Amino acid sequence: MEEKYRRLKTIVEGEMEGASPAHDIDHVMRVYNLCLKLAKYEPDVDLDVLKTAALLHDVARTEEDKAGHSHVMNVDHAVLGAEMSVNILRELGYSEEKIEQVKHCIVVHRFRGNSPPKTIEAKILSDADKLDVLGATGIARSFTIGGECGQKIYSNIAIDKYIKENLAGGKPNGRITDPTKHSSNLEFETKFKHIPDKLFTQKAREVARERLEYMKQFFERLKREIEGRL
Ligand SMILES: [Fe+2]
Ligand SMILES: [Fe+2]
Repeated sequence: MEEKYRRLKTIVEGEMEGASPAHDIDHVMRVYNLCLKLAKYEPDVDLDVLKTAALLHDVARTEEDKAGHSHVMNVDHAVLGAEMSVNILRELGYSEEKIEQVKHCIVVHRFRGNSPPKTIEAKILSDADKLDVLGATGIARSFTIGGECGQKIYSNIAIDKYIKENLAGGKPNGRITDPTKHSSNLEFETKFKHIPDKLFTQKAREVARERLEYMKQFFERLKREIEGRL
């Protein structure tokens, strides 16, 4: 990694101190590496913008988590992270044009509504961030989050019943109303399985399918073990 990016990583590491293991600097570096992998399959990627945005994309994550715990205000780490990045990048001598490009990638990396990624760099970052919830890494991350939320290792509730009882509006994409009733296998059924539909690049869809197959086998085996069949 070049000196410029090493400096950025150090700044981000400082901002993310005390972050959950699911969203810490190691997550940032996994996303960074995935971005580089996906970029190889796309033409005309500005690697400087992509690497910079990948390193900074969750810089405000700890702020959002702190605000969430205190219920003081509603912080969106994508919006706040983009704002924080402007000052960091100006100090590091980035051009205003580059800063704008990086900002776009960060603001839309968790897009759920009206502003989808417009540039190839933003699409790659969004894809890489989503791929990190899949595969062996995704399993490890979801159990980490589950532990933090006091969830069971496995829940054998019927999926339709679960959606009706614990997702807002009884809809499959509704918000979880009680996190303690959630579990990793339910997250797999309601969220992870649908990630390929949310990806923008061909290579990311390919990686997602392979990682999902691994997860499917893991959760099937977990069910068999829990039911005493293995
Ligand atoms: Fe994020
Ligand atoms: Fe992230």
